Amino acid sequence: MRAFWLTLSIQVALCYCHYTYEPDPTWNIRSTNELKDKNFWYHDAQRTVFDKLAQQPNLYLAKNVIFFLGDGMSVPTVTAGRIYDGQLKGQIGERNRLEFEKFEYVGLSKTYCVNKQVADSACTASAYLSGIKANYLTIGVSADVQLNDCASAQQPEHRLSSIAAWAQRAHKSAGLVTTTRVTHASPAGVYAHTSNRDFESDKDVHDLGQNPSDCPDIAQQLLEGVGKNLKVVLGGGTKKFLPNTMTDIYGNVGDRLDGRNLIEEWQQSKHQGNARVVFNRTELLNTDLRQTDHLLGLFNASHMAYHLDDSIDTPTLAEMTEAAIEVLSSNPLGYFLFVEGGRIDHAHHETKAKKALDETVQFSNAVKRARRLTDPWDTLIVVSADHGHTMTINGYSDIDNSITGLSSELSDIDNLPYATLSYANGPDYQRFYTAAVNGSVERVDLRNLNIGDKDERYPHGVPMSEETHGGGDVAVYANGPWAHLFSGVYEQNTLPHLMAYASCIGPGIKACDLRPNPYNTYRP
Ligand SMILES: *[C@@H]1O[C@H](CO)[C@@H](O)[C@H](O)[C@H]1NC(C)=O
Ligand SMILES: *[C@@H]1O[C@H](CO)[C@@H](O)[C@H](O)[C@H]1NC(C)=O
Ligand SMILES: *[C@@H]1O[C@H](CO)[C@@H](O)[C@H](O)[C@H]1NC(C)=O
Ligand SMILES: [Zn+2]
Repeated sequence: MRAFWLTLSIQVALCYCHYTYEPDPTWNIRSTNELKDKNFWYHDAQRTVFDKLAQQPNLYLAKNVIFFLGDGMSVPTVTAGRIYDGQLKGQIGERNRLEFEKFEYVGLSKTYCVNKQVADSACTASAYLSGIKANYLTIGVSADVQLNDCASAQQPEHRLSSIAAWAQRAHKSAGLVTTTRVTHASPAGVYAHTSNRDFESDKDVHDLGQNPSDCPDIAQQLLEGVGKNLKVVLGGGTKKFLPNTMTDIYGNVGDRLDGRNLIEEWQQSKHQGNARVVFNRTELLNTDLRQTDHLLGLFNASHMAYHLDDSIDTPTLAEMTEAAIEVLSSNPLGYFLFVEGGRIDHAHHETKAKKALDETVQFSNAVKRARRLTDPWDTLIVVSADHGHTMTINGYSDIDNSITGLSSELSDIDNLPYATLSYANGPDYQRFYTAAVNGSVERVDLRNLNIGDKDERYPHGVPMSEETHGGGDVAVYANGPWAHLFSGVYEQNTLPHLMAYASCIGPGIKACDLRPNPYNTYRP
């Protein structure tokens, strides 16, 4: 009898590894009729169960780590973004999955900062890149440093080191890609230490009442320390690098008061090897990246244009990600790459929900490109957001209703339409409310606005000069070596500790500390 049970359980154990579920994995469907079929839901759920049973944690070392940050990419932004993407492709958007939603492991990150319940992109960058939570509006310094305290930010014991520095110390390469100015808060977290995120150029430091000689600006820090050793820097922001006596190739005059041309200095500092500076998509795509060991690309005077807006010869986030991976891949010891979809956040601040969703799709496309170019056995890809926003998906639209349009329902109080997407607060209050004859406030009829247009603002409650961030947890999606460690609910500053563990870098515990360990290697 015992032998029987033993044989049976061995068979069950063996069989699990081989089971696959046959019914066609139709994630994307084109008719809501299919949703009415009970078999559809049964097989859909069974397939998910079988997929989960086939999951095996990957315990090899991560040679490469790519951290994708969707700035302000709250969970409702991901939901609405997937519906928007699916609807553009002619599918039932609710069924669609963005690229990172195919990852095996998902967790939640708590985004608050040391002194704020709702965070900004600066203090969160310290958390998810340097592993320490700090004060609102500061970057790469501990909470000992108060806003604008330049002297305190210079004290070595207050300066944090980022996961890019840990990678460089382990002789890996590091790089960054963003759609914002490369001196903006999130990318600055890779290389800068500052008591105010707005100190992007020496002019900014001066305008904010500080002395640039006590307070090195962020652009200048890209030419020192960790910044200087980055192999790839792609994004916007020529004006923070050029003196106010010079223009970039598109005629935009620089910001700097100190007369320095940091773009030229960057190129001159790369004594040996092949360093390239590019200013547009044509130049980027014509560069022989295999022969390039340092790459600086600045594609706008300020932030790069939204994907839905016109711009001159601008690469997509996916194209920049591909270029970065090509350059960084030449290091046999691997790399750390930071990729930011930085303008999801900006569109939300303007309550331009359609642009926020479109930037989310661009971000997902960049993740897809990275997955195509890397091996999940040796490359850990982590996707998350720094903080949320106040956008909600309001009830109760019918299935397949346009996510960027008006709800299929009317308000049961004023009998006027509402938008499926709206915000808790935002700018341009008068666009949505009018004073009625008796002095009360009424909503305008949204059918008279352009809801669904890329530049239309979406309705909101509290009037503000710009819509604020939200304090909800953000999701973390992980794929590759040690991705299973990213499940659960944890503090945002845990993220670089986990990435460092998987790739065996940094000051903390590491996967390669565990000896003997048959997996203590890159997968052969
Ligand atoms: C791209 O940059 C190159 C080199 O600076 C320049 O010659 C070319 O005109 C630029 N292309 C466009 C479309 O502006
Ligand atoms: C830079 O961005 C602005 C604002 O989005 C846009 O109007 C402009 O065309 C962009 N410039 C280039 C060179 O793409
Ligand atoms: C104000 O007047 C409008 C009609 O102009 C009416 O619909 C609304 O109920 C009134 N509001 C209040 C608070 O009396
Ligand atoms: Zn923001």
